[in-house]
Amino acid sequence: MIDIEKLQHPDCIPDRQEIIELLSLQSPDDIERLRYSAEQLLLRLRGKEVYFRGLIEFSNVCSCDCYYCGIRRSNTDVLRYTLSKDQIVQSAVWCAQQGYGSVVLQSGERSDVASADFIEECILEIKDKTISQQLPEGLGITLSCGEQTEQVYQRWFDAGAHRYLLRIESSTPELFAVLHPPAQKLQPRIEALKALKKIGYKAGTGVMIGLPGQTIENLADDILFFRDIDADMIGMGPYIVHNATPMAHFQDEITAQSEMIFKLSQKMIAVTRLTLKNVNIAASTALQAMKEDGRETGLTFGANVIMPQVTPVEVRKNYLLYEGKPCLDENAEQCRTCLSLRVASVGRTIAYNNWGDRR
Ligand code: 5AD
Repeated sequence: MIDIEKLQHPDCIPDRQEIIELLSLQSPDDIERLRYSAEQLLLRLRGKEVYFRGLIEFSNVCSCDCYYCGIRRSNTDVLRYTLSKDQIVQSAVWCAQQGYGSVVLQSGERSDVASADFIEECILEIKDKTISQQLPEGLGITLSCGEQTEQVYQRWFDAGAHRYLLRIESSTPELFAVLHPPAQKLQPRIEALKALKKIGYKAGTGVMIGLPGQTIENLADDILFFRDIDADMIGMGPYIVHNATPMAHFQDEITAQSEMIFKLSQKMIAVTRLTLKNVNIAASTALQAMKEDGRETGLTFGANVIMPQVTPVEVRKNYLLYEGKPCLDENAEQCRTCLSLRVASVGRTIAYNNWGDRR
C-alpha cells in the first residue's frame, strides 16, 4: 500500500502504478487521507488563497462537432450568439472593479480572420480599460477559444492575453477518437498546447472524467500527460450527458454511475495536486452540476481556482455544454456573493487583485 502522506513532500512524485493505486482508493478512510494530503500540500505551497477568474462565455458559435458537447455545430436547437465588444469589455471592467484580478474569455472554436481580429480588439480594450493602481498590468486575460494557428495565438499574446485553456479531453488516442469526428485529431491539439507554451502563455489543459469506456489507467495517463506537457493550469470535471448530442444514449449508464464519477473527479483533483505540486487547479462548474457543494468540495481536494459566472444572464442558457449547468439565473453580483460564501465555508480566502499565476 502506497504511503500517501509522503506525497505531501514537494519532491516526492508518484509513478504511474502509484497514480493508478491512488485513483482506485475506495474506503472513506483512504479517500480522506488522500484528500487531506492534497489539501496540506496545496496549503504549504500556495496558502489558503483561491483565485477568482470571471468567466465570460462570449460566443457559442462553433465549427467543431464534438460528440459530447451541447453547443456542437450540428445542434440546431441552440440559439447562436456573440456578445458585442462593449458587452465583453463591460463585463471585464466589472470583474476588475470587484477585484477579481483576471477573466476568462471563452467561446466556441472559430478559425475565420474576422473572429481572430475581434478577439484581439477585445483583449486590447480590456487591457486599456483595466490598468489601475490595484492592477498595474491590467486584468489578467485567459483565453479559451480552441485550436488556432501559432500566428493567431501569437497575436493574441502580443495583444495582452497571457493564459490559455485548451483541454485535451482525453490523452488516450482511442478514447479521443470516439469523442470526436474524424477531422478532429489528438495530435494537432497536443501541438497547439506546445505552441502555446513556446509563445510564453501559461497553458491550461484538462479532461472529462467518467467518459464511457474510460479506465483508471486512461486517467492516470492523463495526469502524466499534464506533467509531460508542463501544464500550468488544470481544469477537469465530470462528463455530463447533453440530450441533444450523439452521446445522449449513454444517459442511463452515466446516471447509474454518477456517485462513482463524482468521487473519481474529486480523487483526480487530489492526485493531480500530489503529482504536479504547485499548478493551478480549477474547481470546475460541472462539479456543482452534480452536487450542490461540488465546487467547494473540489477546493478541499486541492483545487485553488474558481470561475465565477459573469456571462450576461440573457445569453447564459444558450451556452449549455451539458444538462443541469448551475447558476443560469443568478446575475454576476449574486454569483460573486454565493461563491464567496462557498469559499469561506471551507476555510479558504479569496485573493483579490491578483493574477494568481503558477510560480
Ligand atoms: N460534460 C462535461 N464537460 C463538458 N465539456 C463540454 N461538454 C461537456 C459535457 N457534456 C467541457 C469540455 C470543454 C469544456 C469547455 O467543457 O471539457 O473543453
